[in-house]
Amino acid sequence: MKQKIQIVNIVGARPNFMKIAPLMAEYKNYPEISPILVHTGQHYDEKMSHQFFDHLEIPKPDVNLEVGSASSAVQTAEIMKRFEAVVASHKPDLVLVVGDVNSTIACALVAVHMGVKVAHVEAGLRSFDRQMPEEINRVLTDAISDYLFVSEPSGLTNLTKEGIPAEKVFFVGNVMIDSLKRNLAKAEESQVLRELDLQEKCYAVLTLHRPSNVDDPIILEQLLQVMQLIGNRIPLIFPIHPRTRKNIEKFNQKLRTTLNSPGEDFTKSGIRCVDPLGYLDFLKLMAHAKVVLTDSGGIQEETTILKVPCLTLRNNTERPITVEIGSNRIVGTDPKAIYSAFEEVTALGTMHCGTPELWDGSAAARIVKILLAKHNPA
Ligand code: UD1
Repeated sequence: MKQKIQIVNIVGARPNFMKIAPLMAEYKNYPEISPILVHTGQHYDEKMSHQFFDHLEIPKPDVNLEVGSASSAVQTAEIMKRFEAVVASHKPDLVLVVGDVNSTIACALVAVHMGVKVAHVEAGLRSFDRQMPEEINRVLTDAISDYLFVSEPSGLTNLTKEGIPAEKVFFVGNVMIDSLKRNLAKAEESQVLRELDLQEKCYAVLTLHRPSNVDDPIILEQLLQVMQLIGNRIPLIFPIHPRTRKNIEKFNQKLRTTLNSPGEDFTKSGIRCVDPLGYLDFLKLMAHAKVVLTDSGGIQEETTILKVPCLTLRNNTERPITVEIGSNRIVGTDPKAIYSAFEEVTALGTMHCGTPELWDGSAAARIVKILLAKHNPA
């Protein structure tokens, strides 16, 4: 009898969920694959984790490592310790990791130490900024992976330069866009615009959570001040990441009073804070925004497909295709530069930009085909 191919799939933090969802769906077409879903518990609350399983129709995890929040070292070490037992008991053929969070490198490292092959989805992206924890996670994960699935051409160039053998590297497109395409019609049914009393193309959306932007009180304050100016021009919706909320509360009273709390009367501030939104509500909010301001990686990609201008509040991007295509501008964190980019972008009419190669909704199908070909049961 043919043995099934056992693939252990890892999710840990919010941006992992939209990347794993299309793969879990695709496995269903192949009875010869036996997928196991492991949630490390890096993100654990309803708004950062649970609701995404429902919205994206991800099966309930087979294993939850429940590591929770801690310093980077403790979190990574705890994931490794707990995941080692999972690999030992399941003896999978393959461990598949996505993205660049601590869960990604922690599980990849455990797998290679235990002689299990590793597939990395979203390989090859580089910001060339080693201050970013994600950049370290990307470089290390790529160095130890057996199959590297690349989402944009820059990934191929970067991996070649790092000496990764070409036979390990596959340009397959973008699984995050698979999720977007699969869910856009459903997201249109969201009532989020009505609930927030917003008109299409008459508001902006802000997200901020990178340590470089939110862990330093001076930078965070400068950013929030320019956001207030923008919020006085156009409703600015700010779903606050827990890291950012915690820092705003920690830093000082002055910072706090510039912002409203979720549910409070927003007219006191130019910025309308809301709790982190679910996938479908956030997709709808982005799709009809006039402009999105963000330091997220995934949002740079999603706005490219939604054809909504994106201003990236960082000095670099690991996703240069979004800039080449014309939807994304890297504006840094200087308030004047941010405000003038906002004015320029909002003065423009409809944005015309192309679509990156292979961002067509079929990346997961390509990945699973390749994995099957490599691990074909005898
Ligand atoms: C992590 C990822 C980052 C990703 C981001 C998306 C790493 C190094 N960073 O950053 O790449 O873009 O997730 O959100 O892996 N918290 C909660 N509830 C949760 C999870 C976190 O309240 O469910 C709070 C905790 O106070 C925690 C803080 O958020 O200390 C930061 O969480 P953590 O997972 O350490 O990093 P993120 O900033 O979320």
